[in-house]
Amino acid sequence: MKIIGIASSPRGEASNSTIALKTALDAAEAKGAEVEIFNIAEMEISDCHGDNYCKAHGDECAIKDGMDPIYEAIKECDALVLASPIYFFDLTARTRAFIDRLYAFYMTPFTENYGAKKFSLITTQGMPDESAFKAAMDLAAQAFATIGFEVVDVEAFGDGNQPNSLTDEQVEKAKKIGENLL
Ligand SMILES: Cc1cc2nc3c(=O)[nH]c(=O)nc-3n(C[C@H](O)[C@H](O)[C@H](O)COP(=O)(O)O)c2cc1C
Repeated sequence: MKIIGIASSPRGEASNSTIALKTALDAAEAKGAEVEIFNIAEMEISDCHGDNYCKAHGDECAIKDGMDPIYEAIKECDALVLASPIYFFDLTARTRAFIDRLYAFYMTPFTENYGAKKFSLITTQGMPDESAFKAAMDLAAQAFATIGFEVVDVEAFGDGNQPNSLTDEQVEKAKKIGENLL
């Protein structure tokens, strides 16, 4: 089983969402999964141009940038875990741009062509109430469901205003997200 992780925080190694993502993927790897992480905060990811080129060119995006290797990895993966901080009640702008670029896989027989795939979402936030941004999280999950992914976990990690501040309980929660994909 191949699982790819998409990290998106600009905080680097101390990022709560990236730490939760790595923890999830490490747990999956320990159970035999092959894992790979892309950090879209450090990659050139353009906004979608909305030119519908992908609709006439079988899943291929007209834009050539950091999404190129990610598109290929998504085609080949069995599961994708997306990790994003919450910025002003929503996923970050960079994460939203990444999701928009998956329009290349929309209204095409994507999962029929490339196999069944699972999706899990990790978000981190300052607010302790982990249901506070459920609406934004559900919309992101819906985008992946729309292109054929089976949604497995949609989990928020609260109280994370400080970098590198996951609690032991949150680390255990992250491990389960990885294990649930196998
Ligand atoms: C620009 C910005 C906006 C934020 N907006 C929110 C918010 O609306 N609600 C919230 O609970 N936390 C908010 N936060 C806090 C982050 O979501 C929190 O620190 C999170 O753990 C960051 O994840 P990271 O360490 O992976 O970057 C915001 C942080 C920044 C920098």
